[in-house]
Amino acid sequence: FSDFLTDTFHRQHDYLRISVTERCNLRCLYCMPEEGVPLSPSRELLTTPEIVMLSSLFVSQGVTKIRLTGGEPTVRPDIVPLMRQIGALRSDGLRELCLTTNGLALHRKLESMVEAGLTGINLSLDTLDPWQFQLMTRRAGFAAVQKTMDRIFELNRAGAGIKFKINCVVMRGLNDREILPFVELTRDRDVEVRFIEYMPFDGNKWSEGKMFSYQEMLDVIRGRYPDLLRLREHRNDTSKTFQVPGFVGKLGFITSMTHNFCGTCNRLRITSDGNLKVCLFGNAEVSLRDILRRANNGEPIDEAAMVSLQEAAIKGSDAAPGTSLAVPDAEELLKVIGMA
Ligand code: GTP
Ligand code: 5AD
Ligand code: SF4
Repeated sequence: FSDFLTDTFHRQHDYLRISVTERCNLRCLYCMPEEGVPLSPSRELLTTPEIVMLSSLFVSQGVTKIRLTGGEPTVRPDIVPLMRQIGALRSDGLRELCLTTNGLALHRKLESMVEAGLTGINLSLDTLDPWQFQLMTRRAGFAAVQKTMDRIFELNRAGAGIKFKINCVVMRGLNDREILPFVELTRDRDVEVRFIEYMPFDGNKWSEGKMFSYQEMLDVIRGRYPDLLRLREHRNDTSKTFQVPGFVGKLGFITSMTHNFCGTCNRLRITSDGNLKVCLFGNAEVSLRDILRRANNGEPIDEAAMVSLQEAAIKGSDAAPGTSLAVPDAEELLKVIGMA
């Protein structure tokens, strides 16, 4: 395994999340203000060849799973061709290509994505009620999401084998009454419904009172299904997994607030403007885009750029306690991506 992807805690980062856009077609209360987020000028964003190049670099260093996120990844106009090019990295060791999406604009693209190599979908869906959907996302569109969901089940019945999870952020007083209806979804359907503790993000007006904890969720579910079973998780799962005996699907809990899982985190992130982030909560970032663009212009990487790259990485490890990613030297990086 490449040193590049092993940190000082001996965690091997074989899972890369790439944000392919900052834009979104919804305005979920817990994520974005009504007016949306400020958008970067497009020249600062990674181009499709750049995303493919970085994906290829990380796969060559041992990454086996790539997840495309956003914003909402399906609003990127060339998301399908992008996926096709990343999907082609299967022959180099990529095993999973996943998408985290709100499903609003996915329905029509789904089949071509599966053809392109998509293996998993995490659908962000916090309610099964159209009115509540409008309240929580500040947009209409529940019917479109439902269509996407139906289509995923249909494709899977036909053998597509898409790993399907639903992410449900539980907020007190908003959708906490829907926990049992979501559990009910798993009775006959092969899906993992994951309940997520509401987390503070910049400006989302988080308050502890609105957070519905893992323990409270469990109490609600056990009230109805006392024999709820705990299942074994894979080592790097963010969620704790359960199942109602006799149900087809599973339940998961993402307990970022009450039981963190930093010790087994194996994720790296690339932001839509090309910064590598070791931790979701860390602020320090290293610009891979700048290194790539320098290389593209045929300019050699100079000593100063190397030093700032390493400094940024060290800052990144301060921001995320206990993490420090070994940064390859620039020459090595360029060789790997075939530019030196
Ligand atoms: P899987 O590959 O299915 O395990 O997906 P995932 O859980 O890694 O990603 P997804 O995009 O579905 O995100 C689900 C939830 O996990 C979201 O609320 C994320 O904010 C949260 N999450 C993802 N990665 C991390 C992480 O490294 N740390 C913390 N604290 N939360 C994370
Ligand atoms: N707390 C918890 N989960 C959140 N997500 C977005 N914002 C928050 C928050 N403040 C979830 C979305 C999506 C996933 C990528 O992150 O619901 O499923
Ligand atoms: Fe944020 Fe996802 Fe909701 Fe869009 S769909 S506003 S990115 S949580």
